[in-house]
Amino acid sequence: MQMTDIILKKRNNEELLKDEISYFIDGYVKGTIPDYQVSALLMAIVFNGMSEKEVAALTFAMMNSGDVIDLTSISGIKVDKHSTGGVGDKTSLVLGPLVASCGAKVAKMSGRGLGHTGGTLDKLESIPGFQVEESRNKFIKQVNEIGMAIVGQSANLVPADKKMYALRDVTGTVQSVPLIASSIMSKKLATGSDAICLDVKFGSGAFCKDSKEAKILATAMVKIGDFMKKDTRALLTNMDQPLGKAIGNILEVKEAIETLKGEGPQDLIELCLQAGSVMLMQAKITDNQKEAIELLKKNLKNGKAFEVFKKFVKYQKGDLNYIEDTSKFGVAENVIEVKSPFAGYIAKIDTQNLGLAAMNLGAGREKKEDKIDYQAGIIIEKKCGDYVEVGDILAVLHTNHKEYNDEIRNIIESFHFKNEKVDLIPIVYDIIY
Ligand code: URA
Repeated sequence: MQMTDIILKKRNNEELLKDEISYFIDGYVKGTIPDYQVSALLMAIVFNGMSEKEVAALTFAMMNSGDVIDLTSISGIKVDKHSTGGVGDKTSLVLGPLVASCGAKVAKMSGRGLGHTGGTLDKLESIPGFQVEESRNKFIKQVNEIGMAIVGQSANLVPADKKMYALRDVTGTVQSVPLIASSIMSKKLATGSDAICLDVKFGSGAFCKDSKEAKILATAMVKIGDFMKKDTRALLTNMDQPLGKAIGNILEVKEAIETLKGEGPQDLIELCLQAGSVMLMQAKITDNQKEAIELLKKNLKNGKAFEVFKKFVKYQKGDLNYIEDTSKFGVAENVIEVKSPFAGYIAKIDTQNLGLAAMNLGAGREKKEDKIDYQAGIIIEKKCGDYVEVGDILAVLHTNHKEYNDEIRNIIESFHFKNEKVDLIPIVYDIIY
């Protein structure tokens, strides 16, 4: 087999065979096929797309390029959840303990944040002592005992994706549904759960800019799951404004704790109830969505979900004193109210811009090696549809930086006003399965 023939075939818009796809993935990971040939093939895929069969074969080859985790020694149905990334997205911190408190098993491997989006591991590590590295045996024991664990991905998980994503990033080949869908699903499938609940976000703070794009990506990923015989369902959710109020690591952990006590912001609660109900149905706790939502609401109210969160933090060596009294986290040196120079209804929030402002205040990384200030971030006080008078507080900025005037300006510029009331997009727009 020759890589040039495979490139020409895709350039001529012909369907690649399973063997041709695994030949190119194997060769690329081993280093026998060079970057320039893979770049050419990726660009041909961007232009000519891939059939469902090709995407399934690509996902399968990528998944098998490294470790495939065996979770069969965890009893019951293991349900994983994946978000395509957003701003203020602390859903996993709430959903893990919440669905585990209802009897589902969550054995989750997460990533770190980069650019305007945050990462679950960084949020967890803002709890003093919290460990995201665990041996495989301890990870399995923890899920069997308390129903959930969230750890870092093993170093050898889908090496084909690590190498290919870095190449796509510098060759203009990131934006392609088959490449994105296979990249995400190969990692999810390699982590060994029985069912996958995807949160595909769309809007100004998301990878997909509108619901149409999100639906195409979600459908492609659900089809891959079906092909691999894993129950895969996707929620299309609105990221035209940050989720909840908090952006930034400690601020988000505090908001997740409030939510687990039943006191969180409405949009975050709604998303957790909808996604949680899908996960409970996937775990076969119930086949009735209404019943699932009632069970989730009950465990938020009676403290069971929060109890699982505390067990989870304790198991992974986080200091429970901070969870029981969140004032121990302290606050950043500068806590500054950002006031509105305008009056009107908030029509739109440039969420990516807000995520970048939070990153610049210290809450995120521009480059992989940057260090995070866990206290930094933004609390959003006004959301889409709210009416604002001149001088009302739009947001509160938290930073240990001495200079923050540019970020105040960025935060103000992120809010767009209208004189008339605006129609709001619901947080959960659709569910695909
Ligand atoms: N996230 C991924 O993991 N892969 C992509 O290709 C895009 C977003």
